[in-house]
Amino acid sequence: MAENNSSSLMEKVISLSKQRGFVFQSSEIYGGLKSAYDYGPLGVELKRNIMNEWWRSMVHEREDVIGIDASIIMHSKVWHASGHLAGFSDPLVDCLISKERFRADKAPRPQPKDELPIECADKGQAKTYVEAIQKRFNIELKRNGKTLYGMKVIDESTMGFFPDDSDKPMETFPYRGYVSPTFGSPFLSDERQFNLMFRSQIGPIDVLGDITAYVEKNKELDGKELRTGIEEIVKKSAVYLRPETAQAMFVQFLNCQQSMSMKVPFGIAQMGKSFRNEVTVEHFIFRSCEFEQMEMEFFVEPGSQKEWLDYWRDRRMEWWQKLSNDPSKFRYRAHEKDELAHYADACYDIEYEYPWGFDELEGVASRTDYDLKKHAEHSGAKLSYFDQQKQDPETGKNGWRYTPYVIEPAAGVTRGLLVYLLDAYHEEIVPNADGADSSRVVMKLHPRLAPIKVAVLPLVKKEGLPDIAREMVSGFFKAGINARYDEQHSIGKRYRRHDEAGTPYCITIDGQTKEDGTVTIRDRDTMKQERISKDEALHVVQKRLVES
Ligand code: GAP
Repeated sequence: MAENNSSSLMEKVISLSKQRGFVFQSSEIYGGLKSAYDYGPLGVELKRNIMNEWWRSMVHEREDVIGIDASIIMHSKVWHASGHLAGFSDPLVDCLISKERFRADKAPRPQPKDELPIECADKGQAKTYVEAIQKRFNIELKRNGKTLYGMKVIDESTMGFFPDDSDKPMETFPYRGYVSPTFGSPFLSDERQFNLMFRSQIGPIDVLGDITAYVEKNKELDGKELRTGIEEIVKKSAVYLRPETAQAMFVQFLNCQQSMSMKVPFGIAQMGKSFRNEVTVEHFIFRSCEFEQMEMEFFVEPGSQKEWLDYWRDRRMEWWQKLSNDPSKFRYRAHEKDELAHYADACYDIEYEYPWGFDELEGVASRTDYDLKKHAEHSGAKLSYFDQQKQDPETGKNGWRYTPYVIEPAAGVTRGLLVYLLDAYHEEIVPNADGADSSRVVMKLHPRLAPIKVAVLPLVKKEGLPDIAREMVSGFFKAGINARYDEQHSIGKRYRRHDEAGTPYCITIDGQTKEDGTVTIRDRDTMKQERISKDEALHVVQKRLVES
C-alpha cells in the first residue's frame, strides 16, 4: 500500500465517503448542520452490518445474553436516579474577548514561562481585540500582523503582562491554566456546568404560556429567582432524549431476568440511538450529537467483577480486531483512579490509532452495583437477585439475595464505522488491462461488513447477458445476500467502482457463459479471477462469506 500521510488519510476517507455514498453532511443543501451526519446508500448497509455482527456475537451466539429495544424517551426519574440530571455535564467557558465558547477540559494548557500569543483571524480583528483588551483590562498588547503579544504564564494560577520583553510583569491577572482553542486567549469567564442531555416536553402542555403567566405575576423577582421558578415549570413536563442506551437495561433488569428465567451471570444487550448536546464536535463522525451505541450490561455475583471485566475486555478486543485489516492499531488502556466515573471501580478503554493518535473506541467498565441500587432506591422496586444454590456470606444460611455487580462493554457504532473506513482505505499501484502501472483505491472492508457482497456484471448490455446476470442477482437476493446488478461503463471502470465501494466479489457474465455455463469471479483484494460454474456461484460466495 502506498504511504498514507495520516491527516490526508482522514480527508481522503471523508471525500470517498461522500462520493461513494457512505456518509453525507446532514442538511447539506441548506449549508449543513454542525455535527450531524446522514448515512448514505452504502453507509446504511455498513452501519447495519456492524450492528448485526455485534448482535450476532453478543446475543445470538451466547446463551447468557438476551436483547432489548427500549424507547429513546424514558421517564425523567430515570435520569434523576442515574445521576445524569445532576452530573452529566461539561465545564464550559467563554473567551471574554472573542466570545468563543469551549470545553475547559479539552483546551490547550500553556505552562509557566510560556508566552500566550493571541492569534486573530486577520489584522482588522487583531486591532479590534487590542482595543477591547485595553478597555477591559487596561493593558495594551503589542500587535504583529494578526498576532497579539505581551502575555506570559507566571505560575499555575497567575499570568502577567510583560511589555517589550521586560523581565517583570507590569500587571498580573489570575490564570485558569488553559487558553481558548481557536485564538489562544487567556482572558476567560468562570467555568459553568452545561448539561449534555437534549430536553423536550411531553404532553399537550403550553410551557411558554405557563412561563409568560409566571413572569407577569412575579415582576418583582430578580433574575436568579425568576430562573428558579421557570425551571420548576419546565421540569414538570420535561423529558430527555437518552444520552446512553445503558439505563434501560437497569430499569428493565427484573422484567428481562424473570421473563427469560435468566441466572446470574447474564447480560442484557441493546443497540440504538443516543443523543448528547456535545460542546466540542470533532473529527467527522468521531464525536457527534446524534450517534448510535451498542451496549451490554452483564450482571455478575459481587466479588467476581474483576474476572469478568478482564473477560469482556478481551472478547471485545478480539471482536474489533477480527473484523479489521490491521489489528496492531487497537490497544487497551486502563483508566487511572482519578479518571474513573463515580460509579466505576475499574475501566478499560479500547482505543484505536486514528490519524490524530490513539483515542477511545469502546469503554469496558466495571460499574459495581451502583445503577441497580440507585434505581431500586428511587423507584422502590426490588432490583436484586436470589441465588438458591449459594450460601449468604454474611449469615451462612442457604440462599443468597444480593444486588448484582455490572460489567458494561459500551461501544459507539458510528465511531466503529469511522474506524473500519480508516482501516479499509488502501491505495495501490496495480497493473491495468495492458499491463501498465495504474493506481487504485480499494476499501478492504471485511466481507461480512461490506455493504454490497457481490456485484454481477454483464460484459456487454446485449446478447442475453443482462438476463443471465439479473437471474443470478435474484438468486442472491433469495439467499439473503446483498447483490448488485451493474452494467454502467466499461468492465475496468466497474471493477474500480466496486473496489471503492468495498464489494469483495465481482461476477462477470461473458460470451463464454452462454457456451459453457461458466462465469468469472474476481476477488477484490487479490484481483485474481477464477472461472467457476454459473450454477455454483451462489454456493461459492456463501462459502467465502461464512469462512471470511
Ligand atoms: N453507558 C456508558 C457510556 O455511554 P461512553 O464512554 O460515554 O459510555 C460509550 O460511551 C461509547 O459511545 C464511546 O466509547 C464512543 O464509542 C461512543 N460515543 C460516546 N459519545 C459519542 C459521541 N458524542 N459521538 C459518537 N460516539 C460517541
